[in-house]
Amino acid sequence: MKKHGAIIGLGYSLPENIVHNSDLEKLVDTTDQWIRERTGIKRRRILEREKPSYDMGVKASKQALENAKISSKDIELIIVSTESPDYLTPSMACVIQDKIDAENAAAFDLNAACSGFVYALTVADQFIQTGMYNNILVVACEGLSKVVDWKDRNTCVLFGDGAGACILTPSDNAGIINYDLGADGKKRKAITIPLTHFNEEELFKRNNKREQVIYMQGREVFKFEVTAMTKSVKKLLAEENMSIDEIDWIIPHQANMRIITNSIKKLEFPIEKVVITLDEYGNTSSASIPIAMAEANENGKFKSGDNIVLVGFGGGLTWASTLIKWL
Ligand code: UT7
Repeated sequence: MKKHGAIIGLGYSLPENIVHNSDLEKLVDTTDQWIRERTGIKRRRILEREKPSYDMGVKASKQALENAKISSKDIELIIVSTESPDYLTPSMACVIQDKIDAENAAAFDLNAACSGFVYALTVADQFIQTGMYNNILVVACEGLSKVVDWKDRNTCVLFGDGAGACILTPSDNAGIINYDLGADGKKRKAITIPLTHFNEEELFKRNNKREQVIYMQGREVFKFEVTAMTKSVKKLLAEENMSIDEIDWIIPHQANMRIITNSIKKLEFPIEKVVITLDEYGNTSSASIPIAMAEANENGKFKSGDNIVLVGFGGGLTWASTLIKWL
């Protein structure tokens, strides 16, 4: 019988430092009102510059292990989703493996930008279905403040730092039921963070400076994301022969409140059943979905048997959704 990867533990970690919209008014030509009205963001958490981003991933992982009541020695695979790693090598997964004493685990990073956590869950689920591994730690950890251009008002008001983690284990009737993954590389230039290669266009977009900072065509990405979120969720439901009324919760990537409300309206889903953390934490890229899921779980929102849809979208451009039956 087909096994599903079920979530048995969740954790999250956010830096203590809170940056309010009014703080950003001192950095760029913006206002608290513009940011709230155009994005829904009120504040975000920002990691101290000298601290490594992986610290947040380590804390989230330890909390997920405690929540699952298993030892780190039982973890057989660690997958970390990140588009803002501290090092190209070692992978963040190897650093976390060391810091949590999970010496029996294989470890690698995966980058699908803001869709990365759902991509990583899907990959983990494949290993569970084949019977190769029983306990898998999936982490999404992002220190985006380190790759934000703090002089660019188009992007610096949007992002925040944080990490979320979960532990997957095989189950007969609960867990990950289905997924939809996709990418449109033709639109890849809409969000970029160059590392070693800068062509003329990349240099121009960054004021002719070789800086590893985010550039984004906000309006283009916005349109893509509303369509991607709506289509992907509808595809999942159609494949499972389910109606939207059978879904208990949707946890979308937290990029912009207007993206969420536009998509949710198209899906004809009640906004009260959408998990939102955007106002408090901003856009934490691939970490936004597991942070929202872990916090909602901590607040007792989910009950056994709930149908929960996670949906991510962003750089690449990519999208990813998954349907989970809560254990
Ligand atoms: O995680 C995946 C990544 N995806 C995302 O982050 C979401 C994608 N896009 C968006 O969320 C939205 O497109 C933005 C929030 C980035 C921008 O909102 P918008 O409503 O699409 O604004 P816009 O880019 O069309 O700009 C409207 C105006 C412009 O001024 P002019 O040209 O009309 O004079 C911008 O220069 O708003 C201006 N603007 C700002 N004004 C005050 C842009 N950023 C700011 C700002 N404060 N921070």
